[in-house]
Amino acid sequence: MQLLDGKITSDQIKEELKNKVEAIKAKGGKIPHLAAVLVGDSGAAVTYVNAKVKACELVGFKSTLVKLPDTISEADLLSKVAELNADKDIDGYIVQLPLPKHIDEHKVTEAISPDKDVDGFHPTSLGRMVLNLPTYLPATPYGIMQLLERNGIETAGKHCVVMGRSHIVGSPMSILMARNTNPGNATVTIVHSRTKNLKELTLQADILIVAIGKPEFVTADMVKEGAVVVDVGIHRIDDASKKSGFRLLGDVKFDEVAPKTSYISPVPGGVGPMTIASLLMNTLQAAALK
Ligand code: GUN
Repeated sequence: MQLLDGKITSDQIKEELKNKVEAIKAKGGKIPHLAAVLVGDSGAAVTYVNAKVKACELVGFKSTLVKLPDTISEADLLSKVAELNADKDIDGYIVQLPLPKHIDEHKVTEAISPDKDVDGFHPTSLGRMVLNLPTYLPATPYGIMQLLERNGIETAGKHCVVMGRSHIVGSPMSILMARNTNPGNATVTIVHSRTKNLKELTLQADILIVAIGKPEFVTADMVKEGAVVVDVGIHRIDDASKKSGFRLLGDVKFDEVAPKTSYISPVPGGVGPMTIASLLMNTLQAAALK
């Protein structure tokens, strides 16, 4: 078993980006600028957004954190989005999800200008991805593709089972793995909460990508010997023995699954850091298109 180490791979990407920013600076070009909108200040979203902003600083990007109260109206959030669309200095931005229940996420996502949609969630970005046209790929699936590519994982002709069909991970992931690209060219099966013969299907997976949002759902008996396993899940579990008061678990029962695999991504330190690296890559691309 080898680790698909997202920390090492994302550090490589960040080093490359840092060098690119230095080259831009040397030429007197515009420094890429990412903005992140955070509505409310609860839960893991704060940690994620702070990590994104910190990563920008590390590679030399400009970053702006827009903090808004969770009582903000949908109309006011849409005004902020319009402001960011018009801001010439900002190359790309994200609105961290989930949003409070009184705000329609689709409305907000569709209001983001597709040329600044570095999260790749806008229908235009997703449509272009399906058509294999240049676009911003959604950060988590893009990060997983990078993790596979940069660790030399062969995907062509392999059976890839994607667990989960969310708009931000499972669905785009299945499309990317089936596209005529490298990585890609896999035979893809999507399984979800209504799938009947789940284990029968996961046992056929050469590559198993797990994004179902249930802690330690995937157990050793569901995984084929020698499979590549990518764990997208991240769950905070209360743990009084930890200084933070919690520990992190993935969707895969790592200790028992890992010995059966050829490669497996850990949680934390797998997909998470790759998602941030992808967002930075998309931001550099946004700045280059200006
Ligand atoms: N919530 C969970 N993942 C993401 C992400 O990649 N981008 C945004 N904006 N929100 C998220």
